[in-house]
Amino acid sequence: MTYENLIVERDGRVARVVFCRPHVLNALSRATIAELDAVIDELASDDSVGALILTGAGDKAFVAGADIGEFNLLCSASDAAAFARRGQAVLAKLEALSKPVIAAINGFALGGGCELAMACDIRLAADTARFGQPEVNLGIIPGYGGTQRLARLVGEGRAKWLCMSGEMIDAPEALRIGLVDRVVPAAELDQAARVLAAKLSTKAPLALALVKRAIHEGLEGSLASGLAHEAALFGEVFDSEDRAEGVNAFLDKRKAAWRGR
Ligand code: COA
Repeated sequence: MTYENLIVERDGRVARVVFCRPHVLNALSRATIAELDAVIDELASDDSVGALILTGAGDKAFVAGADIGEFNLLCSASDAAAFARRGQAVLAKLEALSKPVIAAINGFALGGGCELAMACDIRLAADTARFGQPEVNLGIIPGYGGTQRLARLVGEGRAKWLCMSGEMIDAPEALRIGLVDRVVPAAELDQAARVLAAKLSTKAPLALALVKRAIHEGLEGSLASGLAHEAALFGEVFDSEDRAEGVNAFLDKRKAAWRGR
């Protein structure tokens, strides 16, 4: 499939999706959201892809938010709510993808860009990256999950601070509050993301899918229900061919050959 706003590259079992609208700092147009939706479906059903990297074109921005130039097309409250629901649905699909997704944050991650990064599994940031939910500066609020995922990731007070002040924070501060998982020099970001994605792409696919579900779905409820869910998924993965292969490969001192079932 070809895309106008995304570049999709393959390197072994790693797919790299580059948001490419540099004239607007890779802002998410409605067409870009539709393409993201399509590329998730494409990569989800491709067994040759074991991990994804999302990043932005150029060295200035990851994604600088939703495309503000399209906001005046939203003519009513219900139009705007539907716009938010559409973006939320695509990011929820990304979050639920059964493969690891790494955000390689190479510059501004603002508004929808910060929300996109938060829907990924692991966030690596360049030391030059900057983060924020600046919607309040436009008289609006985050609509692609920012109020919800940010509060879960960094806590209520910090989420309110960021969303109410509209302030940007730098990469070391994002690391300190838990918004990103690792910061590397900008020149090393691409390689660091590729190395991590390649490593994850060699792991047992079913185990990766189920550990992701256990964490995401477990966070929705109480500790007790999360533990029950973990036990059920542990049972499911224990019943798999990959569990037999993984254990036998360890005992035979050889590399496991995963089948994803
Ligand atoms: N939507 C549409 N266009 C955007 C955009 C967005 N979210 N973010 C940046 N752009 C455009 C700018 O309008 C500018 O276009 P122009 O060259 O036609 O004037 C171009 O991208 C470059 O941005 P510019 O503002 O000149 O770069 P800068 O280095 O001075 O500032 C930012 C960078 C990110 C601080 C600034 O662009 C900004 O505040 N962007 C909006 C971020 C935002 O509010 N996002 C949430 C949206 S809900």
